[in-house]
Amino acid sequence: MLGWLLTAPLAVLSWLFSPVPLTVIVLLCAWIYRTATKNFDFWKSRGVPDPQQKAIDFFTDVVNKTIDYRDKHPTSSRDFLQLMMDTKDKDGNRILTSKSIMAQAVLFFIGGFDTTASLLTFAAYSLATHPEIQERVQEETDEVLSKHGALTYDAVHEMPYLDQVLAETLRLYPPFSRTERVATKDYTLPGTDIRLPTGTAVQMSPFAIQRDPDNYPDPLRFDPDRFLPEERERRHPCVYLPFGSGPRVCIATRFALFEAKVALVALLKQATLKPTSTTPPPPAPLDKKSFILSPEGQKLPLLVVPRSKTDGAGRCLRNEVR
Ligand code: HEM
Repeated sequence: MLGWLLTAPLAVLSWLFSPVPLTVIVLLCAWIYRTATKNFDFWKSRGVPDPQQKAIDFFTDVVNKTIDYRDKHPTSSRDFLQLMMDTKDKDGNRILTSKSIMAQAVLFFIGGFDTTASLLTFAAYSLATHPEIQERVQEETDEVLSKHGALTYDAVHEMPYLDQVLAETLRLYPPFSRTERVATKDYTLPGTDIRLPTGTAVQMSPFAIQRDPDNYPDPLRFDPDRFLPEERERRHPCVYLPFGSGPRVCIATRFALFEAKVALVALLKQATLKPTSTTPPPPAPLDKKSFILSPEGQKLPLLVVPRSKTDGAGRCLRNEVR
């Protein structure tokens, strides 16, 4: 009897850990986990705090308080929030609920800030690691600024080389490495027998397309001349997709490029960017988990050297400043 009590659990355990039952158990656990975690309500109902809730509460609170305030104190302001509040049906009722307004505000916040920050990060890094390109940008911006006397809208549009540099940065480091669409009807990809049934989610990767050597020879080399007008002309428009394409293309393409240019011109007017001893050589290593493209470890150390401390070619004359 005692012998049986000792050997039975061992027999059960060794059966459980044999290949077939073990596979069944693993698959079952994976299925339970997947089903349970599909919807966060599962965890919420067990008292696990929703990590997104704090952010949602913050935005909801800011938007609701601002709407309340503006309802009580009407303003002639024509900002984004006011435009959404003023969208009314023919009877004068507000069309967008405060939840919709909050969602749009969050979309602009996420779509607008981290993307531009990512572009500026990689542009600064690319300039620092390609001093000859940075020098050419500074020559161009110095000349245009002295002609216009200030950093105006027109001045920024007279900087074609800066435009090429940003275009090349967005090619090599597109902030959104993928875009998505859902098929609204059955569709067969032209020239193939690949059928997409209605409702299929399709992901496209500007990152992969823009680093494909068939589209851009020697793709990891940072070369703004790929965006000379004649070079742009030679390529299919859909091999360059940092802002997406079609009816849902980024609504702020021009604004985003403009603000990035203003930031870079203001910086390069006063300073030259340089790599530090720990700056990785190009191309920048990337964080594999970030939603918006970011450098590995979330940092790319650079030196910002006041131009008064460099000679004309950007070489340091005195102490470098971090
Ligand atoms: C370098 C900066 C930016 C990049 C690379 C970028 C990229 C993109 C991409 C790839 C999409 C999806 C397009 C598609 O699926 O075809 C998108 C959509 C969008 N972006 Fe941007 N974006 C940038 C800056 C901004 C800024 C500054 C704003 C707002 C001020 C903004 C607002 C939006 C909005 C509202 C959408 C959704 C458009 C829609 O679904 O109709 N983006 N952006």
